[in-house]
Amino acid sequence: MKTKIAISLALCSVLGACNSDDTAKEKPPEIKASMVELELQSVITTQQITALTPPSDRVLIETPLAQLGKHLFFTKALSGNLDTACASCHHPNLGGGDALVLPVGVEALEQDLLGPGRLHDANGVHHDAGPTVPRNSPSTFNIAFYTKSIFHDGRIEMVGDSGSMRTPDVPKGQADANAGTSLAQAQARFPVTSREEMRGFTFEQGTNEELRGALTARFNGTSNELAINNWLEAFRQGLEQPQADAASLLTFDNITLAIAAYENSQVLVENPWAAYLNGDKEAISEQAKRGALLFYKSENQGGFDCASCHSGSFFSDESFHVLAVPQIGRGKGDGVYGDDDFGRFRETKDEDDKYAFRTPTLLNVMQTGPWSHSGAFTQLSDMVLHHFNPSESVADYVPDDVQPGIQYAHWQENTELALAQLARLQDQEKSLLPRASIEKDQLDDLLAFLATLTDPCTVDPACMNKWVPSSDEVDPDGLRLVAYDEDGNLL
Ligand code: HEC
Ligand code: HEC
Repeated sequence: MKTKIAISLALCSVLGACNSDDTAKEKPPEIKASMVELELQSVITTQQITALTPPSDRVLIETPLAQLGKHLFFTKALSGNLDTACASCHHPNLGGGDALVLPVGVEALEQDLLGPGRLHDANGVHHDAGPTVPRNSPSTFNIAFYTKSIFHDGRIEMVGDSGSMRTPDVPKGQADANAGTSLAQAQARFPVTSREEMRGFTFEQGTNEELRGALTARFNGTSNELAINNWLEAFRQGLEQPQADAASLLTFDNITLAIAAYENSQVLVENPWAAYLNGDKEAISEQAKRGALLFYKSENQGGFDCASCHSGSFFSDESFHVLAVPQIGRGKGDGVYGDDDFGRFRETKDEDDKYAFRTPTLLNVMQTGPWSHSGAFTQLSDMVLHHFNPSESVADYVPDDVQPGIQYAHWQENTELALAQLARLQDQEKSLLPRASIEKDQLDDLLAFLATLTDPCTVDPACMNKWVPSSDEVDPDGLRLVAYDEDGNLL
């Protein structure tokens, strides 16, 4: 009796509109609702769950440096054969990714066609009719919040506490003196070096550093590969040095600095869940609240403890875990067939890291599909279900032609090895993946919760277009990617 009174009193304070005659009997649906609300409030307090706040040194897209970065992000001048831009795989109106299972970078049949329908030109080098890149393109949204590592396998990562970073340019464990000042800046040095992404199969310019030098020469005019070149003016504005000369301004370091400023300005964290955490109790639905409970509660409380890996307000522990998602695509050269991907093991050579990939953030996850490092899941529900019964999920997986030519030659053999690795880690209690089962309505609740992590800006081109160069802005080299989808609509 005592508890009943306590609950209905608390309900009154939650709904804020009770009068003295309201009783539990008269209003059963709200009573049920209030229980969820109360329980969630208690979980939030206990687990100290808070909304993500933008970093204090947040870069705004309006700043000159981020504006310069925008033009660099969209120019094909950074690719060996002038056919691919960063935005070819990370378009703001495609969730910061490319909406493909696996990317097609250089030698696309139609360079400016993004998303479904983007194909590798049959006359291209190494053409096998399939996507050229082995891993799914992650979103550039909110990468400013990664503090430890970047890439699915974390191969660019902080080392020590001094802000030093390790990159693929230096031996393992060492710091790369040229990495720059943020993970995003260090990362921007590498897409240009990948043959499949931007370098091209035929652009021979020696080492990574020589290649960067050759690209920089285009910008500073020491090579005359660009028919139009107004980059000096753009860099003077972007770096706010109106008098500086080409040699001092048009450096590869300044290119990556500006690109990083642009990417770090993509802070998209104003979602209904954050509004709810900040006190707006109506910001999310009852169903989403049930989903949040399942997400945060531990297994012995009847939840799924998703937050053990998707932890904190950024929904990632920035650590590496084995999930054994279907290993489709051309792979990273690992395994007996050379089309497997050992993930974090490639970096650490630690057996427990074989097939482990970084926990991705779940912010805006509705917009960032297809999901997982291999892009194997085109339905978010399948991605979530996979966590519960990976073997069954793999057994039920149907390789199909969602995207033409995906390489499926040994996906089963490779994925079986990943499943065996997961089973071993679970038996040795080294895996945080719960061995739980999920009901249909619980899945719907979880998906409703995940939907509250969408910043409305990400689904509104009018809002996102500040990250896309507009036609009335100067195109410094005439090589701007003006992207369209397979129906011919501009993105
Ligand atoms: C052909 C497609 C393609 C192009 C072009 C491309 N990327 Fe990527 N990008 C990817 C893929 C695939 C990954 C994941 C690679 C991995 O983890 O091994 C990635 C990863 C990233 C990440 C890391 C995100 C994270 O969550 O860790 C950033 C940042 C990024 N790219 C920025 C850029 C920039 C800047 C450029 C241009 C200089 C660029 N990309 C060009 C496909 C592309
Ligand atoms: C053991 C740690 C762990 C737990 C627990 C966990 N996840 Fe994940 N999750 C991951 C990792 C790692 C990936 C990426 C796997 C890959 O790329 O191959 C991932 C991927 C995802 C993705 C796809 C994101 C993307 O951008 O591709 C979603 C959605 C997701 N998890 C939701 C959940 C939900 C919901 C729960 C709770 C039911 C959960 N996760 C529990 C580690 C975990």
